[in-house]
Amino acid sequence: MCGIFGCFLNEGNAAPLIHSSLKRLEYRGYDSVGIATISDGKITIKKDQGKIDDVHKIHNLDDLPGSIGIGHTRWATHGAPLQVNSHPHTDCAGEIVVVHNGIIENFLELKSELQNLGHTFVSKTDTEVMPHLIEETLKQNPQLSLEQAVLESLKKIDGSYAFAIISTREPDKIICARNESPLVLGINSHGLFCASDIPAFLEVTNKAVMINNGELVVLTAKGYEIKKISDGSAITREPITIEWTPEMAIKQGYPHFMIKEIHEQPETLSNTLRMQDHYLDLLTTFLDRANEVFLVACGTSYHACLAASYMFSKLAFLPTYPVYASEFVEQHGKSVNIDSTILAVSQSGETADTLAAVTCAQQRAATILGLTNVIGSSLTRISRVYIGTQAGPEIGVAATKTFTSQLSVLAQLALRLSKKRGKISQDEMDTLAEKLDKLPETVDTIVRSQEDKVKNIAKKYANSKVFFFLGRGISTATAFEGRLKLMEIAYIPSIAFPAGESKHGPISLIEDGFPVVFICPKDDSHRTLIGNIMEMKARGAKIIAVVEEGDQEIKGLADDYIEVPKGIPSVLSPIPFAVPLQLLAYYTALEKGFNPDMPRNLAKSVTVK
Ligand code: F6R
Repeated sequence: MCGIFGCFLNEGNAAPLIHSSLKRLEYRGYDSVGIATISDGKITIKKDQGKIDDVHKIHNLDDLPGSIGIGHTRWATHGAPLQVNSHPHTDCAGEIVVVHNGIIENFLELKSELQNLGHTFVSKTDTEVMPHLIEETLKQNPQLSLEQAVLESLKKIDGSYAFAIISTREPDKIICARNESPLVLGINSHGLFCASDIPAFLEVTNKAVMINNGELVVLTAKGYEIKKISDGSAITREPITIEWTPEMAIKQGYPHFMIKEIHEQPETLSNTLRMQDHYLDLLTTFLDRANEVFLVACGTSYHACLAASYMFSKLAFLPTYPVYASEFVEQHGKSVNIDSTILAVSQSGETADTLAAVTCAQQRAATILGLTNVIGSSLTRISRVYIGTQAGPEIGVAATKTFTSQLSVLAQLALRLSKKRGKISQDEMDTLAEKLDKLPETVDTIVRSQEDKVKNIAKKYANSKVFFFLGRGISTATAFEGRLKLMEIAYIPSIAFPAGESKHGPISLIEDGFPVVFICPKDDSHRTLIGNIMEMKARGAKIIAVVEEGDQEIKGLADDYIEVPKGIPSVLSPIPFAVPLQLLAYYTALEKGFNPDMPRNLAKSVTVK
């Protein structure tokens, strides 16, 4: 996730406004920043890695000439956060300048075609293909206008994008286009703006025009023209008035980042599922060769590792050892060796325990693989190979969207390994791949259909002193994650066990009215889990079940239930089943008067009498 901004002013310098608008988009990404303006037919570009304020101190981002310009604040997806990879990117002649948010899936093919035609690339980004594509289109069809060349180039691109483009060839316009990545226009009497998000321009105007998928927009002194990318036909759309305050707008109208990020999961999952094949194949090759594999992480990321150990075992017959990073050195520090492989999972890529575990393993010559949301983080620097989840910055205190993105990468790795090792039939492979591709839609359905139900459940049980979370098999990881979220955000002591273990002690805690959340996918553990539900009911527990639609058996036993769509394969189940548990933690926190975006000391001020 990155932020793009374009500014077409009737008069005056665009750069200071682009700079301040990018500051308001910094929550979308902040590892690099860049601005390009056009004046007297000449392009000026300033860009560098680092936060906007730091880059501004060095380069003075307000000091670029011209009333037309584009800017970008980056969250790296392809290529580390370095000056050379920062946007804007240009063609060979430096005449076409592009900023982009999204992922160009076929960039490697396009890049090699363009290189064969003599184009020189300087960055590792996917974005850089776009200015070269436009340049090549114009070279081969000199009669085309810039707009037509952009339209032709877009037809060659697979993936998601919001582009803003300026060029010395037609210096009096900004062209932008959208497919899946957000794009919105702002309008006032001084000019026109295009941005990834409304907060970017809300300080200067509350008149906005939403741009839809498959649309291209041309901003000129005459106004804005919207066209369909497929056939170039014109579309008329009037501005609407945005009533949000700037503070509300940053959260896109949601009251907290946590709920915004829960709702973002359909988008972040589809971005992550778009991962380039070669990264996944490379990591799969390392896993295939490994003698022993440790999955190392903390907190929520550890729960992703725990779920992954079931995925690797069930799909690829690969035994893996999920280990809490804080225990790794004590537990395996002496035995880890050149034949060991560590797959470290960390949203931030900076968690001290995870880095300590990885450093210890590296010193003993183990192979380090990484999965992180922050490209350029310490973990990416230490890892032999890493994959970046494409979830964008996670601002809420609780990990939500990054958990489901981590799981979707781990599931893809397990599937690929299974295929590579011949452990799966083509039919099973196709079904799982199809279900995986549908997960964004599945999660969207859950959020839309179950949110109110979860709100009511939160209201009913918010005053409980303790919660239990139980699941079997891979759902043990989901249960652990549900417990962690509730404790972390709603401050209710919670206990989680594999359901089969609960009778070996923990069950003695159960009293009348005690809420027990059961994670109940319709998998091999379903029948046994019903036995566990009966045990708990017999002791007076209140059963809150997360079930598949149509699971009448468990619905009949539960006091309350939350439904997820039918037919989710067991190995993928932690992704959709975790979502209602995130909502439960969020709404329970609200019921208890806590701010879910704040750490404990700031979540609520308590007066002690
Ligand atoms: C829970 C949470 C933490 C992190 C843990 C690891 O909501 O946010 O448990 O998951 O601190 O952080 P990363 O993944 O950045 O290594």
